[in-house]
Amino acid sequence: MSQPKSRSFLEASVPALVKKLRTEEKIQLLGAPDWWNTHAIERLEIPAVRMSDGPNGVRGSSHFQSTPAQCLPCATSLAATFDPELIHQVGAFLAAETKIKSSVILLAPTCNIQRNPLGGRAFESFSEDPHLSGTIAAAYVNGLQENGVAATIKHFVANDQEHERTAADSVLSERALREIYLYPFMLAQRDAKPWAFMTSYGRIDNVHCSENPRLLQDILRKEWGFDGLVMSDWYGTYSVAEALNAGLDLEMPGPSRWRTPLLVNHSLTAQKTSFKTLNTRVSTLLSFVQKVAKINPDVVYGDGVERSRDSPEARNFCRKLAAEGIVLLKNEGEVLPLRKEKARKVAIIGPNVKGRVISGGGSAALKPTYVVTPYQGLIDNAPEGIELKYSVGCYAHRYLPTLENNLTTKEGQAGWLCTFYQHDESGEPVKEPLASFVLQDTRIRLNDFLPKDLTPTWTIKVEGNLTFEKTAEYELGLAVAGRAKLWVDGELAIDNWTKQTKGEFFYGQGTVEEKATLRFGANKSRAVSLEYTNTFPPATGADDEKADSQPALMRGVRLGGAEKIDPDQAIDDAVKLATQCDAVVVVVGLTPEWESEGFDRPTLHLPGLQDKLIAKVAEANSNTIVCVQAGSAVAMPWISAVSGLVQTWYSGNEVGNALADVLYGNVNPSGRLTVTLPSRYEDIPAYPNLFSEDGRIHYREDLFVGYKYFDAKGVKPLFPFGFGLSYTRFTLSGPSLTKTSAKPFGLDVTVTVRNVGLRVGSEVVQVYVGLPDVGVTTPKRQLRAFAKAKDLAPGESKTIKLTLDKYAVSFWDTPNHCWRASAGEYALYVGPSSDNLPLQCSFILEESFEWTGL
Ligand code: BGC
Repeated sequence: MSQPKSRSFLEASVPALVKKLRTEEKIQLLGAPDWWNTHAIERLEIPAVRMSDGPNGVRGSSHFQSTPAQCLPCATSLAATFDPELIHQVGAFLAAETKIKSSVILLAPTCNIQRNPLGGRAFESFSEDPHLSGTIAAAYVNGLQENGVAATIKHFVANDQEHERTAADSVLSERALREIYLYPFMLAQRDAKPWAFMTSYGRIDNVHCSENPRLLQDILRKEWGFDGLVMSDWYGTYSVAEALNAGLDLEMPGPSRWRTPLLVNHSLTAQKTSFKTLNTRVSTLLSFVQKVAKINPDVVYGDGVERSRDSPEARNFCRKLAAEGIVLLKNEGEVLPLRKEKARKVAIIGPNVKGRVISGGGSAALKPTYVVTPYQGLIDNAPEGIELKYSVGCYAHRYLPTLENNLTTKEGQAGWLCTFYQHDESGEPVKEPLASFVLQDTRIRLNDFLPKDLTPTWTIKVEGNLTFEKTAEYELGLAVAGRAKLWVDGELAIDNWTKQTKGEFFYGQGTVEEKATLRFGANKSRAVSLEYTNTFPPATGADDEKADSQPALMRGVRLGGAEKIDPDQAIDDAVKLATQCDAVVVVVGLTPEWESEGFDRPTLHLPGLQDKLIAKVAEANSNTIVCVQAGSAVAMPWISAVSGLVQTWYSGNEVGNALADVLYGNVNPSGRLTVTLPSRYEDIPAYPNLFSEDGRIHYREDLFVGYKYFDAKGVKPLFPFGFGLSYTRFTLSGPSLTKTSAKPFGLDVTVTVRNVGLRVGSEVVQVYVGLPDVGVTTPKRQLRAFAKAKDLAPGESKTIKLTLDKYAVSFWDTPNHCWRASAGEYALYVGPSSDNLPLQCSFILEESFEWTGL
């Protein structure tokens, strides 16, 4: 990317620039040259600006050769802190991470609703509750933008699941749209004014969000006063004129599919769109670029290099943050924190103990600067007198773990060597290599990078030496979007080329993982060589393959491997260890391959034999503590048999330290559930409307998302929304209510929290409001304010003030197209979780009112 030398653009008049731009240049500006940059126009000294994913870290602009980054906890974990102040610091932290990646725009936060725990991106969304989601999102956006980096709040709106995501029409009532799905975006717009919005892939009112004038013009720009940039999700633009007319400023990614001179000029000639519209879009784009460039001239006009940052301060921040999001759900007999008086010998068991599970999968995943696994964290931080013993118990990976840490190049460098070859006219790779790169990853993703001058079809050869520490049989696996083969010591080991089975790999565009078993001697390396081409095999198995082969859209290949274990023996070994120990910590859960953008989870159950493992271990040792790594709910058929339960979510690369801090009691847990954990699959409020049918998702639960459904139906969840235990105890007293002068409505709710236990701890106070009879159905109560009383010493009390405003008493009045608050008596419920609200009273709203806007 070459930037203009002069910085004249920073002070240029945008209207004057729009006048000077040629139509072709305008068209160029409204698309992108590649996956992560806007266009520069050298003639007018307009620079390009760079963006990056988002949301739990800043990946940088290459999937192929990623610059390592700090991986933060996932969104559910962030929201579980119930601490907007801390999330503001997260925004500031991410702003610094963004700038060292030479970017000025973060593609975050994800502000969709966890309507259904099986949604592939549940982990990426803060909560099932719109007030919590919007409050946390606003804090995140403010932290970013106050430090000069544009937030791109996404996905606007109702991208709440992955199934058929580019087609699905979210069929929902106007009230559900307003009161649940738009609500967090609305709060973020009121309290933080994101500089950019990203549209979602799907449809509302049967119109794709990226070409939906009601969403982008009427609601976002006119009603909410948004004046920033609207960009599409990646390949989420589906038209030329419709999208331009509806208010989509930027098509992403590039090269543009729709905003080409041919197509846009054709639309202009046919008067499907106008020059006026084109100018409006360009002027919004330029104002946005100017804003971020003015704040960050040294980044925008800098060297473009992406850097990593790893400092003790950054590590401490991420460790603290990760621990703050952990939720203690069960602690019978005070099995936690682990103390040598009660547990001298502790077994650590489970597939995720040594797994590097730090985030969910898809665009949120990144290459971390380092990972402290639970194993590492528990060993490194073990208090004196506690001895730890490990057994894997079972595997739970969907694809075999990646092998970058086991590979070296011929020259002894860490990683393996990837060489690109062009194809000749017959489609065969030419002999001379085009370019070579050392990769420290065995997931090779080529969607956002290809070397210059490559032919449309091409081949890579990736070579290295593979070594394992232990003599054993190992399973190797190859999944691919395109075609690939693997040789070990010159012999073909896996053929995922000639015959392929379609699978979920790479956003559903790849194959299943093909496997082979091979023996490796301890520390004896074997040469591996992988060949990949970006063409798919012919659909029909025709003799002439090349004639039918089309270049793959998502290009990539993944090599994995692990020691082969006997599943029964592994469980037996773990059970034996459990019987020999005083307590057991089982670390289980999902992985980025089970919970990911691109597909939804088919079931609440933990994958593999994890349920069986937990049940057997708990039978063998009554002091069993289960730690679940997942972005949302999982089934817990063993719940009554275990003494301790910790929901850790995905904690980022400090996961092991954070877990150790909570389990050993260095941190007193204060995270709270941001989602209801259902007892049964059938209790999921959205059930049975979990997936898209013929391109439509029916939101039949309407307003009754999450705890609102459980309240309305009288269904008992496994664990309620807002719930979480502490190693100390609190009492709440109050509330006292004071009307404020805020117009048209304002009420201060004052509550006193007292720590009546023996340890320092923090309590979350939650305020729910129940509307009077307003003539339409409303949830029994809805979270409308919360606050955290932090670090109370034993015996200490703190009085906290929570404020309710007009949002707290309003519902969407569909026929009159406005928000309405009706005079009457409102119920107020205060407590530490949605099903434990001991402080109850009411207040009167004397006069009805209605409002629009924010
Ligand atoms: C995701 C977005 C992401 C974009 C760029 C899309 O697949 O839906 O959230 O920002 O890719 O990676």
